[in-house]
Amino acid sequence: MPNKHIKFAPYGRRTSLSLSLLCERYASKRRYEVRTCENQKLDELIYELKRCRTISDYHSLFESNLLKSVIFNQLLIFSNEKYTRTLLFENDLYELILICWGKGQKSAIHDHAKSQCVMVCVSGLLKENVYHFRSTGIFWESEKILPPFHVTKINNDVGLHEIINLKDSGSVSLHLYSPKISSCTVYESVNAK
Ligand SMILES: [Fe+2]
Repeated sequence: MPNKHIKFAPYGRRTSLSLSLLCERYASKRRYEVRTCENQKLDELIYELKRCRTISDYHSLFESNLLKSVIFNQLLIFSNEKYTRTLLFENDLYELILICWGKGQKSAIHDHAKSQCVMVCVSGLLKENVYHFRSTGIFWESEKILPPFHVTKINNDVGLHEIINLKDSGSVSLHLYSPKISSCTVYESVNAK
């Protein structure tokens, strides 16, 4: 399939990534004191996460049965305005973020600064479009359908991407950013696929 040329703001634009306040409560000490059956698996996942040393380790953990056993119901926040980002855990090395995608919602085309991103769709159905940035513009490279528990990873060497929710009923994905990502560059496209 030929590359698709995308018109974009010449130098992109920096944007801060905002996190849901409700999500941060989960990462707080107080929140951890209130353990429920459903969150024990998430605690186990975070425990295993702390033992990971490489991006490949994170990828394997996201593919594991442990990940499949985590119930995120209590942490889901959907908004009609925009997809929401929920911080589940962070330390000096990485951050774990849950993203809830409502009907018709998608990300902008964006990079990942100096971070590696490993992501997995945990419910619903997502599509990832990957783009390459060149001096003459942004070129569509490939697309990937992400059903539940399909793990993918991206960094700036792989390219830029956008994530699109394909489910009317909403989709949920889990993202590991290492190191933590506080801002990225997004590109406003005219003919984005
Ligand atoms: Fe991304």
